[in-house]
Amino acid sequence: MEDELRDPKNFLEYFLPRPLRLAFFGGSAASCLIASLITAVQLIQSPALELAEGTTARDLIVNIIGLATFTGLFIYDQKQAAVRVERRREIREAQIAFGDREVFVNDQGEKMSRLKEVNDDWIVRRLERWGKRDGMPFVGPDKGALLQQLVADKAPRLVVEVGTMAGYSALLMAQALPPGGRIVTFEKDLSWALAAKRFMWQASQGEKNQGVSSRVGDRVSVEWGDAREKLAGVLQRAGGPGCIDLLFLDGTPKEYLDYLRAAEPFLAPGALVVADNAGVFAQGGLKPYLEYVRGGSGGKYRSELIACKLEWRDDVDDGIEVSTWLGSGSGSGSGAAVEGSKAASGVA
Ligand SMILES: C[S@@+](CC[C@H](N)C(=O)[O-])C[C@H]1O[C@@H](n2cnc3c(N)ncnc32)[C@H](O)[C@@H]1O
Repeated sequence: MEDELRDPKNFLEYFLPRPLRLAFFGGSAASCLIASLITAVQLIQSPALELAEGTTARDLIVNIIGLATFTGLFIYDQKQAAVRVERRREIREAQIAFGDREVFVNDQGEKMSRLKEVNDDWIVRRLERWGKRDGMPFVGPDKGALLQQLVADKAPRLVVEVGTMAGYSALLMAQALPPGGRIVTFEKDLSWALAAKRFMWQASQGEKNQGVSSRVGDRVSVEWGDAREKLAGVLQRAGGPGCIDLLFLDGTPKEYLDYLRAAEPFLAPGALVVADNAGVFAQGGLKPYLEYVRGGSGGKYRSELIACKLEWRDDVDDGIEVSTWLGSGSGSGSGAAVEGSKAASGVA
């Protein structure tokens, strides 16, 4: 938002800043006006409007054109400045309405406004406005509230997410984590991974968070790379088998089953696996995944669909599939992981 209050710069701004521009246009218009008047008087005073001591009617026309041009440029520049002032006023008012800017009275008794400190709430609101305006596939506030509830109920030590994008869902989950909880989130697109890292850093700024040992953005590690390739290596270092308490899948729908299979050795007993878009993609890319968690895995999961709306669309039904990891009854190797995690975490 701060950026939006800055004047757009063009090359003219660098060569001729506004005060110089106004002095140049105004001075040139004034000198053209004076020259036009002098030329006109000389022409009128000369007998039969003939040549008057080297002054021609052409000089008069040139001076009048100069006067019109410089006056036009002067007025145009003034109007553009007024447009910018009005735009800044609109942005300030919008920021106050959104709660991003606060009004205060300064030492001289003048009413002023200033941007509030950047913190996690501020970043979440900003991402929501962006998501709503441009229809970004962030989970959105309604599904986000569901996700936060699941995290709050589960109180996970480690959440793993596939599909960070700008970090909206990661931030929401981070807000609901218990003390000491962490999130590892995978993003294969470098520019999104960098954007998310920036938002996580910003979410850790601000007065509100001062003195808090674990600030919201600091609870999130953004891992750049394809989750199908990186997940096992990163989780081996992050806690090893049985370290995931909650897995949130929001990457490419047809890859969900691959993510799950890669994550299975790291699921803790009773871990929750939450899959986004289980309504809209139920008959498409998510079909094999849903078949797997709803019985095809041979009883590794107990699964249910929580119906909700698609982000930013009240007219489109969607859902999130919430599956509880019951452990591997089929001896696929993940059972050893569960046992290992029980021992490691002290779960009976
Ligand atoms: C729907 S968006 C995620 C939105 C995010 N969870 C939120 O709610 O704010 C999907 C993201 O997953 C990423 N993605 C897709 N396939 C991936 C993969 N195999 N590994 C890591 N990230 C992936 C995409 O680049 C995209 O940024």
